[in-house]
Amino acid sequence: MSSQPPHPTLLIPGPIEFDDEVLQSMSHYSQSHVSAPFVNTFGEVLTMLRQLFLTTNPASQPFVISGSGTLGWDMVAANLVEPGDDVLVLHTGYFADSFADCFETYGIKATQLKAPIGDRPQQDEVEKALKEKDYKMITITHTDTSTGVLSEIKSLSSLIHRVSPETLIVVDGVCSVGCEELRFDDWDLDCVITASQKAIGCPAGLSIVMASGRAIERFKARKSPPGSYFGSWKNWLPIMQNYEAKKPSYFATPSPQLIHALHTSLTQILSKPLEDRFRIHRETSEKIKKAVSDLGLKQLASKPENQANGMTAIYLPEGMTPPDVLPTLMKKGVVFAGGLHKEIAAKYVRFGHMGVSVTDPKRDDIDKALKALKEGLVEVGYKVPA
Ligand SMILES: Cc1ncc(COP(=O)(O)O)c(C=O)c1O
Repeated sequence: MSSQPPHPTLLIPGPIEFDDEVLQSMSHYSQSHVSAPFVNTFGEVLTMLRQLFLTTNPASQPFVISGSGTLGWDMVAANLVEPGDDVLVLHTGYFADSFADCFETYGIKATQLKAPIGDRPQQDEVEKALKEKDYKMITITHTDTSTGVLSEIKSLSSLIHRVSPETLIVVDGVCSVGCEELRFDDWDLDCVITASQKAIGCPAGLSIVMASGRAIERFKARKSPPGSYFGSWKNWLPIMQNYEAKKPSYFATPSPQLIHALHTSLTQILSKPLEDRFRIHRETSEKIKKAVSDLGLKQLASKPENQANGMTAIYLPEGMTPPDVLPTLMKKGVVFAGGLHKEIAAKYVRFGHMGVSVTDPKRDDIDKALKALKEGLVEVGYKVPA
C-alpha cells in the first residue's frame, strides 16, 4: 500500500510517479551542507552516477547541481564551447530548438540538422554536415520528449569519431537516462546531461551531468572564461571532486533533501542489473505501442527503430484535440500530457512510461492507462476498429 494520498496517476513524460521511499527521504531532518554525513551522502550519489552512466573511467566527472535539465544545456554552452564556435544540433523535435537557442544566448553558432516530424537525421546527412564545417561539438537528443523519437547514439558516435574526431559528442539524456540503454564509456561520449525528475524517479530540482576526461580537458583549455557564474565548472569542478573524496566544500548551497531523495532512487535503481531495467522498459513500451496500434492510432515516431522506450507520442483520431480527451482520462485517474511540437501540438498526446510505473510489479499504472485510453476515446465518440 502506498503511503501517498490517492491521486491521479501521473503518466506524462516527466515528472513521473514517485516511489514512497524516495519521497520519504525528502523529509530528512535539516543537515549542514558541509557536515560529514551530508558530504558522505553527496559523495555516494556521485559515485552511483558513474554506475548509472556505465563509466568506470576515473577521468569521467559527474556533476549534480540544483536546477533542472535546462541548466545542463547552459553548462554545456558556457563551459565546453566558446563564443563564435560552431555547433551542430541534430533535431528530432522541440528540445533541439531550445538547445540551439541556448547556444545562441552564449554567442555560439548553432546549425540545426532537421528531420521531418517523427523521424531523425540520417547518418549520411550527419556525415555530410560534419564534412562541411569545423564543428566543435555535436548535440543529439537521445529521446526528444516532444515527439517520442529515439536517436541511435552508439552508431552516431562511431560515425562522428570517424568523420570528425575532434568534435565533442554531447547527448541530451533528460528523457532517457534511467530507462534507455546508454553506455558512456563504450559509446565514447563526451557529455551527457539529464535531470532528476524523469526515469531517475526523483523529484524535480537537480541537473545531472556526466563529462568525459576529454570534455574536462577541453574546458580547461578554454581561451575565454566560462560564460556563466552559477554554471561555471571553474566553480563546480573542485566542489564535485571534493564531495566524492568526502571533503566538505562550498560554492553554492545544495539541497540536502533532494540529494537524499536522489541517493534513495539511485540505490534502488542500482540494486538490480541495469540490463533488466532497460529490458523491462523496452518490453513495456512494445506492449503500449501494440495496444495503441490495435486502437487504430498512429504514433509520431512511425518507424519502430525511432521509437523511444520511455514514452509514446500518439496521434489522436482525426478531428480530436487534447482538450477533448485529457479531461476524460483525468476522470479515470490517469494524467497524460498534450502535444508539444509547435507545428502539430493540437493533434496528439504524450504517454510517459518510465520508472516505478514500469518497474514496480505491485503497480498497475500501465494497464490502467491503456484501459482508460480505450474507454476514454470511446466516450468522446471514437469508434475502435473491430
Ligand atoms: C529532452 C529534454 N531536454 C531538456 C529538457 C529540459 O529539462 P527541464 O524541464 O528539467 O529543464 C527536457 C524537459 O522535459 C527534455 O525533455
